[in-house]
Amino acid sequence: MTPKSVASSQTTITELMIPSYANFGGKIHGGILLSLMDKVAYACASKHAGTYVVTVSVDGVNFLQAIEVGELVSLHASVNYVGRSSMVIGIRVIAENVRSGTQKHTNTSYFTMVAKDDDGKPTAVPPLLLDSKEDIRRFLEAIKRRELKNLYADEFDNEKTRLSVEENLHLLEKERCVIAQR
Ligand SMILES: CC(C)(COP(=O)(O)OP(=O)(O)OC[C@H]1O[C@@H](n2cnc3c(N)ncnc32)[C@H](O)[C@@H]1OP(=O)(O)O)[C@@H](O)C(=O)NCCC(=O)NCCS
Repeated sequence: MTPKSVASSQTTITELMIPSYANFGGKIHGGILLSLMDKVAYACASKHAGTYVVTVSVDGVNFLQAIEVGELVSLHASVNYVGRSSMVIGIRVIAENVRSGTQKHTNTSYFTMVAKDDDGKPTAVPPLLLDSKEDIRRFLEAIKRRELKNLYADEFDNEKTRLSVEENLHLLEKERCVIAQR
C-alpha cells in the first residue's frame, strides 16, 4: 500500500455554539462536544483509510474549560498513528470568542478508529508518511500512550481480582460515603 501523508487527511470542523447546545448553566453540554469530536475523527480517519470506519476507543477527554454560547469551536483532527486497521486521531479543540478575539484551547483528545471493509471486517489502512519532526513525535507518543494504557489495564485487572472488600473498608473512612445499615 502507498503511504499517505498526515496532511492529506487533516480535517477541521468549525461550528457556532448555539443556545440549544447549552445546559441549564448556560455552558455547552459535554455531549455536544463529544459528538463533534467523533464526527471530525470519522472524517479524518475515513479520508486516510479510504473506507468506512468505526470509533473503538476514546482517550484523554477532559473538559476543564467551559465553552460559552456564541463561541466558535474549531476541532482540528489529524492521524497521529496507524496500526494495521486502527488509526489514532488526535483532536485539538479551540473555542474562540469572535468579539474579543480571544481563543482558548479546551482539550486535546485521542480517538482510536478502525477501518472496516464491505463485510464489516477490520481492513488494512495505508501506512503513514511522516513528513516532519512533529509527525514523528506524535506517532511515537501514540505508541507510548498505548503501552501505558495496556499496562494500566493489566495492573487494574490484577488489582480488581485481588481486591478484598473487608481488607479495604478502612479506605472508605476518608471518603464522603456512608455504609447503609442492613
Ligand atoms: C473493535 C473491533 C473493530 C475489533 O474487531 P475484531 O474483529 O476483534 O478485530 P481485531 O482484534 O483484529 O482488532 C482490529 C483493530 O482494532 C484494535 N482494537 C481492538 N480493540 C481495541 C481497543 N479497545 N482499543 C484500541 N484499539 C483496539 C486492534 O488493536 C486492531 O488494530 P490493528 O489492526 O491496527 O492491529 C470490533 O469489535 C467492532 O467493530 N466494535 C464496534 C465498534 C463500533 O461499532 N463503534 C461505534 C460505537 S457506537
